[in-house]
Amino acid sequence: MAFPITRLRRLRKNEISRNMIKETRLTRDDLIMPLFVRPGSGVQNPIKSMPGNYQLSVDLLVEKCKALYANGVQSVLLFGIPEHKDEHGLVACHENGIVQQAARALKKAVPELFLIADVCNCEYTTHGHCGTIIDGDVDNDATLITLGKQSVSLVQAGIDMIAPSDMMDGRVGFIRQALDSNKFEHMPIMAYSAKYASAFYGPFRDAAESAPQFGNRATYQMDPANSNEAIREVEQDIIEGADIVMVKPALSYLDIINRVKNEFNMPVCAYNVSGEFSMVKAAAANGWVDEERITMEILTSIKRAGADMIISYHTQDVMGLLK
Ligand code: PBG
Repeated sequence: MAFPITRLRRLRKNEISRNMIKETRLTRDDLIMPLFVRPGSGVQNPIKSMPGNYQLSVDLLVEKCKALYANGVQSVLLFGIPEHKDEHGLVACHENGIVQQAARALKKAVPELFLIADVCNCEYTTHGHCGTIIDGDVDNDATLITLGKQSVSLVQAGIDMIAPSDMMDGRVGFIRQALDSNKFEHMPIMAYSAKYASAFYGPFRDAAESAPQFGNRATYQMDPANSNEAIREVEQDIIEGADIVMVKPALSYLDIINRVKNEFNMPVCAYNVSGEFSMVKAAAANGWVDEERITMEILTSIKRAGADMIISYHTQDVMGLLK
């Protein structure tokens, strides 16, 4: 009878030795909480498909952020739902735009909280597409102009990092130039570099009221079938000056996160998107899975795949479990 010389179970026997050989540790530093802000005061609209998430007016957003910060959340990603939309999303470039108002209020009330703003037009256009429509499709170069204006305006209001999610070609370079020529050369850009045309964004479009009114986003977001193309997208954003590159969604794209981390010496962010969150909440509400364990497993797996940081709606729920 041959005994195994190598017994991997030896180090699993004791919790202390299990912790000694733990390869991936999720910490509070890794997580970014997305939040939705809308006009008004005292407004707290529950987002039905995303339990525990709300559209908040600026006053309640401030209260929410104070509580999050006290619980260990250090960074939030802001999305705006404006009072009025227009054809080009110009409403998002205004100094009194909804995210600009939120940024000013948050910088006053919770100055240590790190503020990231999503830069895109889909929440701000009447048609729900991510840019200016010409001949029935989003026009790349016309859209760059609104993205540049939106970015400068957000930074002027106090945002600490810009996160363009539109997927126009050349937008990182264009925004970089717009920021630099306004003396914001130190303002970092976290680019949604490999952003897929995904059904996992379903609940978000309710939350942000940003569903396209015709067609879909396949002419600008990536085909889920592609991996080499993700590398080209990331490479391009790095050349144009991105400081952090992002893969989105996360769970069906762990291979992409891993490839990006291995091929580039860059900080990588992964977005654990709305549909991924809602599936967990729905299954947990039915008692089909253990929510705490499955959430920790998901977030740890995204980090193990290569993400240095994770944007997740679970952030507020897991702070108590992390150091
Ligand atoms: C676009 C944007 C989207 C998300 C983040 N930024 C939606 C889209 O591309 O349709 C999705 C995030 C999520 O599903 O959680 N502004």
